[in-house]
Amino acid sequence: MPAAFPKFRIQIDNSYTMSIQNDLILRTARGEKTERTPVWLMRQAGRILPEYRKVRASVSGFIELCQTPELAAEVTIQPVDLLGVDAAIIFSDILVIPEAMGLPYELVEKKGPFFPNTIQTESDLKNVRTADAESDLGYVLEAIRLTKKELNGRVPLIGFAGAPWTIFSYMIEGGGSKTFSKAKKMLYTQPELSHRLLQMITDSTISYLNAQINAGADMVQVFDSWAGILSPAQYETFALSYIRQICNAINQEVPVTVFAKGAFFAREEISKLNCNTIGLDWNMDIKESRKLAGKKILQGNLDPCALYGSFDEIRKQTKTMLDAFGPDKHIANLGHGLYPDLQPDKVRCFIDTVKEYSTQMRK
Ligand code: CP3
Repeated sequence: MPAAFPKFRIQIDNSYTMSIQNDLILRTARGEKTERTPVWLMRQAGRILPEYRKVRASVSGFIELCQTPELAAEVTIQPVDLLGVDAAIIFSDILVIPEAMGLPYELVEKKGPFFPNTIQTESDLKNVRTADAESDLGYVLEAIRLTKKELNGRVPLIGFAGAPWTIFSYMIEGGGSKTFSKAKKMLYTQPELSHRLLQMITDSTISYLNAQINAGADMVQVFDSWAGILSPAQYETFALSYIRQICNAINQEVPVTVFAKGAFFAREEISKLNCNTIGLDWNMDIKESRKLAGKKILQGNLDPCALYGSFDEIRKQTKTMLDAFGPDKHIANLGHGLYPDLQPDKVRCFIDTVKEYSTQMRK
């Protein structure tokens, strides 16, 4: 540990290093050199594993699964056992925040999320409130505590939340969309209302992420899945300014990752945030991102569709990606979440290649 490090950081780092056996990802997120590149996958829990589908079939639906801490813990740990990833991510959804604020959602089979009530006007705002994590989202916190206990220090646990702009989009649209034109229309026609809702989501998210950290999350990620549909100016005004508030308000003892899908135009601004790691999607050039990101750690960024290729092709693509990032300051991942029809063997091939090749790269 360099002597220049502030004293309190040393104490915090040591306590994490001692309690977690495989802490590669935490050390990498803090900027340390490691013996190999850590790897995990966005949407690793619940999308591709037959073992997940079995647990899922035992309950009435996805939301019940999220709200049953024992089962949520079980499916959180499955990818650690079955895929060999270097971190677990708590099984939940970004949409628990709108629900906790007063807008319940359903998951329609083969269609995705659906909100029976949405926000369209000033008067709709009366139906939502700022969520209090401890009272409104206790089931997620319980799932985190239980997962930590069952993981027993094998790998770190990642907590997460959606970024305010992405959550706002669902609250206005009532579901997924190709264009998100209703949500964008709101920014142009009712900017003041938009800011009030975005601030409520931000306050709810700060409470939620800090509660996840207090419950045991070892690092947290903010998912801005619909970042790429805003112009750079709108992204600053309606998205980044709120992510900035979140980064500044989070308990800084744990590393923070910001993943803004499609926001290639905002990489330099994102690198100025009070966060450790920047998530890249596959459209973002790795070398260019390194220049823009300064000292930040980068996460990503293989195209999930590359995992439809042959085993040889997956190895080749993965090695090319690792070479471009270089051995340090990189957490290997895909450029977005796994797709449901990817084969577990192909996913394991990506993970194993990261482990083997990134070890060789350091020799
Ligand atoms: O890694 C993990 O799988 C952990 C849990 C997790 C889920 N959703 C579980 C889930 C995480 C991190 C998310 C994040 C999420 N949810 C995002 C951001 C990441 C991204 O992909 O951009 C978004 C936009 C959502 C919203 C959402 N939730 C959609 C669009 C859907 C429908 C279909 C799907 O699978 O994406 C969901 C449902 C959902 N969330 C499922 C799971 C496992 C499917 C539930 C099932 O049918 O069993």
